[in-house]
Amino acid sequence: MKALVLSGGKGTRLRPLTFTTAKQLIPIANKPILGYVLDPISNAGITDVGVIIAPETGQEVKNYVKDGSSWNIKVTYLLQEPLGLAHAVKTARNFLGDDDFIMYLGDNLIGKGVNALIEKFKNEDLAALILLKEVEDPTRFGIAVLDSKGNVVRVVEKPKNPPTNLALVGIYLFSPEIHKAIDKIKPSWRGELEITDAIQELINQGYKVKAEKLETWWLDTGKKDDILYANAKILDEYIKEEMCGEAQESKIEGRVSIQRGAKIINSTIRGPSIIGAECIIENSFIGPYTSIGNNTVIIDSSIEYSVILDNAFVKEIEKLEESLIGRNVRVIKNQKRNTLKLHTGDYSEVEI
Ligand code: DAU
Repeated sequence: MKALVLSGGKGTRLRPLTFTTAKQLIPIANKPILGYVLDPISNAGITDVGVIIAPETGQEVKNYVKDGSSWNIKVTYLLQEPLGLAHAVKTARNFLGDDDFIMYLGDNLIGKGVNALIEKFKNEDLAALILLKEVEDPTRFGIAVLDSKGNVVRVVEKPKNPPTNLALVGIYLFSPEIHKAIDKIKPSWRGELEITDAIQELINQGYKVKAEKLETWWLDTGKKDDILYANAKILDEYIKEEMCGEAQESKIEGRVSIQRGAKIINSTIRGPSIIGAECIIENSFIGPYTSIGNNTVIIDSSIEYSVILDNAFVKEIEKLEESLIGRNVRVIKNQKRNTLKLHTGDYSEVEI
C-alpha cells in the first residue's frame, strides 16, 4: 500500500496565518500539522509516500519534510495546480500505479492512528473506505448517507440541504478502481474535480464502499478556535515533562516541555504547555494549554489557552486568552490610557 498526502491547495480559510505559511505547516504544540499526518502513515508501515504540493507553498513543504527520512519514509513530490482532490489523485496516477493507497489531507488531524482502518479495508476487500464524523455544520463538508449494514449509498460535497450530519473526514482508502471513476467525473460548481463525486461514481458502478465512524476528535483546520482546541488536545495527549532550557526563580507545574536554550525567569509555567527553543519568558504566567513558538519573548504578561508562533514579542499584557498570534507579531501595552494603537495585517482579528 502507498500513501498520498495532499499538501497543496490554496489555504485561504486560515488567513492571516496562511499569507505566510502553507496551512499544513501551521504548528500545533510547536509541530506542523503535516508532521501529525506523516506519523500515523509511518506507524502503519507505509514507506512509499507521494506528497502533493502547490506552486506557491511547495518549497516550504519540501523544506519541512525533506526526503522523509525523519519518518522512515521515501517521499515523492508531485506538483499540482489546486484543481480539486480528485485532480490531485490524477496528478499522482503514475506514482500510485495499480496499488491500493491511503489518501490523507495534509490539514486534517485526528486523535488516533490509521492501522485499524487499513486492516478493515484489506479484510473486507473494498473499493473505498471512508471515515465519517458527526458535525454541527454539514454544509461545510462532504456528507455521506449509509444503509443499515454500514454501506455508503450516497455521498455529496458541501450540500445546501444536507441529508445527514455525517461528514467525510479527510482520510480515505482506495483501491485502483478509483482512477477509472475519476476519469468519468466532471468539475463541480466550484470548478474542482471532487473526490466525493468519484466515490459516488464507484457506488453507481456497484463497487463496495464502506465507512467507519471516527469516535475521537478531528481537526480540519477551519478557524482559530479549532486550532486552539487541537492544540489543547495534542498537549494533553503528547506533551511530556522536559527541561532543555533553564529556569531561574520560577515554578514549572505539571507537564511542561521547555525546549533548547529557553530561559524562564521569575515566572510560572503551568502544563500542559510547551515553550519553544530560545524563548525568553520573564515575570510572566504561561499556561495551561499554551504553546509558545521558538525565539518568542514574553515579559510581564499572563497567557492562557493560546498558541503563539515564532519570534513574537508580548509585553505587559495582563490577560491574553484564547489567542492565536502569528510569527513576528508584537503585542505591547500602550502606556497612554484609553487609546488603542493598532497596526494589523489584512484579515487580522482583534477583540477588545
Ligand atoms: O476536511 C474534510 C473535507 O475535505 C471533506 O469533508 C470534503 O469532502 C473534501 O472535499 C475536503 O473539503 P475542503 O473544501 O475542506 O478541502 P480543501 O480545499 O480545504 O483541501 C483539503 C486539503 O487538500 C488541503 O490540505 C489542501 C489540499 N489540496 C486541496 C485541493 C483542492 C490539494 O493538495 N490540492 C487541491 O487541488
